[in-house]
Amino acid sequence: MGWDRFFSMYLSLVLILLSPTTFTGSKDTPGQKKKTWREALRYCRENHVDLVSVHTEGIQRWVEIVTRKTSTDNVWVGLRHTCDLKFWFWVSGEFLCYQNWAQRLEMQDCSNGERSGAVQSGSKQWISLLENQTLNFICTTK
Ligand SMILES: *[C@@H]1O[C@H](CO)[C@@H](O)[C@H](O)[C@H]1NC(C)=O
Repeated sequence: MGWDRFFSMYLSLVLILLSPTTFTGSKDTPGQKKKTWREALRYCRENHVDLVSVHTEGIQRWVEIVTRKTSTDNVWVGLRHTCDLKFWFWVSGEFLCYQNWAQRLEMQDCSNGERSGAVQSGSKQWISLLENQTLNFICTTK
């Protein structure tokens, strides 16, 4: 998919990174926002639209650009694992067709709780993390 097509398709999908370099609106305390995955999801849904779902290569390219400005090694996206059903899904409801995992995903260890997905700031690939880590995150806005 070319950039032109990508931009026309996603013109309305503006991704913002909640960091002082790209998000200086309101009176948020300077400093990068870091939240657990659940807190990040709630924050995005209450203040914007949702945690970003990287369900196409185009959105992945966008996220790669946005994560250049992050301070944490990993950045939360709207990727969630369910231990009950043993699969990964996007919180927006998209199927996980496009994938960009850093490693082959073995059976997820559910003994310490549910796992969520993050993009590595370095490789830009996805990894599975325990949801209680506090990381930067990317919301979608209207
Ligand atoms: C996250 O939870 C796991 C398992 O309950 C615990 O071992 C770990 O210390 C926690 N990490 C943080 C950052 O709270």
